[in-house]
Amino acid sequence: MIKLSWRNRGFWDKMKEVSSRGVSHRAAKVSDMKIPDTSSSSLFTPLALGQAPGKIILFGEHAVVYGRPAIAAPVQQVRARAEIWPAEACTVEAADLHRRIPVADASPDDPLARIVRLTCEALARPLPPWRIRIASEIPVASGLGSGAAISAAIVRAMLAAFDAALDDATVSALVYEVEKIHHGSPSGVDNTVVVYERPVWFMRGKPPQPFAVARPIHLLIADTGVSSPTRIAVGDVNKAWEQDPTRYETLFDAVGSVAQRARSAIETGDVAALGPLMDENQRLLAAMGVSSPELEALIRAARAAGAAGAKLSGGGRGGNMIALVDDEHVGLVSRALTAAGAVSVIATTIPPAIVV
Ligand code: MEV
Repeated sequence: MIKLSWRNRGFWDKMKEVSSRGVSHRAAKVSDMKIPDTSSSSLFTPLALGQAPGKIILFGEHAVVYGRPAIAAPVQQVRARAEIWPAEACTVEAADLHRRIPVADASPDDPLARIVRLTCEALARPLPPWRIRIASEIPVASGLGSGAAISAAIVRAMLAAFDAALDDATVSALVYEVEKIHHGSPSGVDNTVVVYERPVWFMRGKPPQPFAVARPIHLLIADTGVSSPTRIAVGDVNKAWEQDPTRYETLFDAVGSVAQRARSAIETGDVAALGPLMDENQRLLAAMGVSSPELEALIRAARAAGAAGAKLSGGGRGGNMIALVDDEHVGLVSRALTAAGAVSVIATTIPPAIVV
């Protein structure tokens, strides 16, 4: 698993400060940020910044590829970030991945170059002379939407630097094009949730539906440390579905029914009902063949320590699992997950939200 670190934290800390004073936290033109310029030259100040969160799938992964509904939410605790610097040619740099991509010469299926080109096409602009530096706290190939978040952060930074705007549906559509390179046949749920940055009810090919969250939902997200590209898990489910469509359609229908019941429980504030629904969803995912011994060990440990329910989140076979917890059990479950081998545990809350 590759973990990226952010090398210029001081700058981002300032950006967070500015966000809390009212400038969009998704993108900012540095000249708008009223940060005292302590450097003597603009060589030390990026032109613009963009960022996007990670994501979890609460219910419905894999079945969503086959037209059933899924419920997903952003994870604000981990983010991908992009900053834009003046340069002589357009390059994307992921220092922590040891990658530097000259966009004009990159292969059409390079995801980082592709999102830059797509953004320029959408705005009818030529490739700009920029160095686009990216970094991310979201572990790669771990079910937390790292690829989609990096693409979304790049688009947002480019929009800020161009002084241009695109609505969320358009940004999500651009990120979806790159998700095809990452995933083969993505449902579109990852790009949707990281771009809209709110819990969504998602069905393939339809606009996302925001829905009410009546009471806060507290979750722990634990990483098995096993890197698992979504493309492989999705491809294997597809092969199994081709071999036994009746069995897989039945499994997908059952997942769709779990997602429906979960939506009602979230809307009515019946958080207690979500635990058994997560367990039921996990049984169905295991039956599809996308769980793993590492995921099962974390799920067992979370339940034994008092989690109300637990399941894998994302493509599975590794990556992250989620556990539903209350105040009384959050510490116990977190320690149990670490003892069972989790390489990181993140606490997150889906806050109450109304739909207007
Ligand atoms: C990946 O986060 C979710 C999957 O359902 C794939 C997809 O929806 O594209 C496994």
